[in-house]
Amino acid sequence: MFGETAELGEVLLTEDEIQSKIREMAKRITEDYRERSLVLVGVLKGAFIMMSDLAREIDLPLEFDFMAVSSYGSATRTSGVVRILKDLDFEISGRHVLLVEDIIDSGLTLKYLLKYLSTRKPASLEVCALLRKTGIQKVPLDVRYEGFEIPPVFVVGYGLDFLQRYRNLPYVAVLRDGVQP
Ligand code: PRP
Repeated sequence: MFGETAELGEVLLTEDEIQSKIREMAKRITEDYRERSLVLVGVLKGAFIMMSDLAREIDLPLEFDFMAVSSYGSATRTSGVVRILKDLDFEISGRHVLLVEDIIDSGLTLKYLLKYLSTRKPASLEVCALLRKTGIQKVPLDVRYEGFEIPPVFVVGYGLDFLQRYRNLPYVAVLRDGVQP
């Protein structure tokens, strides 16, 4: 139904588990930002699926923007410098901003983006991330809304890809043994 899945192994998070967590996070966000308007900033490409589900569960006036970043090859893994492929379309100064990420791996992308966005002087800047791999963040991060902690394995689905595929799976699965990321 979702295309070829022969490369997939164990399902880590089912569609029901993900959707229930999204509703729970959206409820908290709705309560926390009551009486305020919010700008959701999604980090392409991975966050687009989550952002779409999350946004439709948030009962607030919302605006949307996206950033696209890419690493400078392996240097990113050590330096945390990322290349901005697409910047924000709108000014966020004085706005309440919630950065939406699908996954936090080393944490370096997030650290860079938070530093970059804070220079735009938002009224507030928080993070909503569906997944965080445990034990491998290289930097301390303050993630206000966190969905699931997962083991540090390669996962696909719900926005996450392997060679650009599997983003449309409604669940999160690991790659089958022997399939190399
Ligand atoms: C993923 C994810 C984060 C980043 C996390 O994006 O969406 O942006 O990696 O990694 P880090 O914590 O080690 O910095 P990816 O580079 O795979 O791009 P994509 O979303 O377009 O697939």
